[in-house]
Amino acid sequence: MSAKRTSIHGQWSSRWAFILAATGSAVGLGNIWRFPYMAGESGGGAFLLLYVVCVLIMGIPIMMAEILIGRRGRQSPVNTMRIIAEEEGYTRQWKWLGIMGVVAGFLIVSYYSVIAGWVLAYVFRAATGSFEGGDPEAIAQMFSDLISDPERLLAWHTIFIMMTVAVVSRGVKSGLEMAVRFLMPALFFLLLVMVGYAMSTERFAEGIMFMLRPDFTAMKENFREVFLNASGHAFFSLSLGMGAIMIYGSYLSDRTSITSAAVLIASADTLIAILASFAIFPLVFTYGLEPAQGPGLIFVTLPIAFGQMPGGVFFGTLFFLLLTFAAWTSAISLIEPAVTWLVENGGISRIKATAYTGLVAWILGIATILSFNHWAFPFTFAGVSKENGIFDIIDILTANIMLPLGGLAIAIFSGWLMSRASTMDELKVKENIYVSWRFVIKFLAPVGVTIIFLNQIGIL
Ligand code: PFF
Repeated sequence: MSAKRTSIHGQWSSRWAFILAATGSAVGLGNIWRFPYMAGESGGGAFLLLYVVCVLIMGIPIMMAEILIGRRGRQSPVNTMRIIAEEEGYTRQWKWLGIMGVVAGFLIVSYYSVIAGWVLAYVFRAATGSFEGGDPEAIAQMFSDLISDPERLLAWHTIFIMMTVAVVSRGVKSGLEMAVRFLMPALFFLLLVMVGYAMSTERFAEGIMFMLRPDFTAMKENFREVFLNASGHAFFSLSLGMGAIMIYGSYLSDRTSITSAAVLIASADTLIAILASFAIFPLVFTYGLEPAQGPGLIFVTLPIAFGQMPGGVFFGTLFFLLLTFAAWTSAISLIEPAVTWLVENGGISRIKATAYTGLVAWILGIATILSFNHWAFPFTFAGVSKENGIFDIIDILTANIMLPLGGLAIAIFSGWLMSRASTMDELKVKENIYVSWRFVIKFLAPVGVTIIFLNQIGIL
């Protein structure tokens, strides 16, 4: 029997509202900033191949599990995990899974906001024609000037946190639904324009082949790193393993099909990431840039295109503006679990809860700001080598460790601990689809994530 609860935080107005909001959470900097630079560092096609496999065998089934648990519990992820575990006859300590998600959300949003700040800064650069002429050297210099100036970074980070707090304090329903309804299609369209421009560059084919042809020899050499990056990114990009999709699921009507929603969200997310890489790598090769240059990749490739294409000021401004919105709708979902938990357990208003959450995220963000200048240092952590100190540590700790660990726990919980009756009651699918989901969530997904961890500690 379904426990027919209602959420004190509200409900989506329709099935589409949920799909758009969850897509808004999934599509963000992860698709347009992180995916291309990770792919660039990890050999392009090999990364894409492993990424798609991870989305199929771990991403979609775990997303379904998160939505179904969220809808059944209808509270913050911490309290949802506690009550569903008790209902199924297990210990309430499952709440720690929700708490780990809240911590991961704080860590991710702290650096996410700093990068979103770069995007905001670029809206103004594009609008004032700073890319005109598209000289690659000048554009690279402009980027390094920005990230080496902590005061400017702090100003943009502050603005972005305030934007996020402003929406979340009102409740995610109003505003967010409207925003994603128009902005996601617009972003998609603009990416197509960018791919169109990339097609006109000399080395378009090379850029596309870089993404489409997995180089198996290179892949063998650093398989571990490519695999860790691809699997971690699947969780990051689909917003899984930390309760963001769970809390959105808690506002979902009982009638909506979870399976089709999850497939739609994951497909849109993957398509946008692939389009972004098709827009970027042809430029990288045409202008002799380095595919493995790391987090600055989109900030030094796309402005070259905007500087050279007709209407570049218009398209450039629009692009960074839309990317700001994509980042905004993701950041909102990163703090929503913490805010709902504070409201439920702290007895404070949503406005206060959001303000406290924003303040903590703002303070944590300072560490990321300094990682690109005063505190930059190279290091190797969990099998991956990086150079931007604390920023990279937080990034790897969350994407490659905390989110997959959260995903593993969700898979085990929904596959092994929840009864068949409760999961079937939420999924309401045909028997053969249910059996396939249950097989994947019980065996394939947990084995997949376990392989990630064994790789991480160097056993595989
Ligand atoms: N999925 C977002 C992106 O790709 O930019 C980032 C993100 C949002 C990760 C929400 C995790 C999360 F819970």
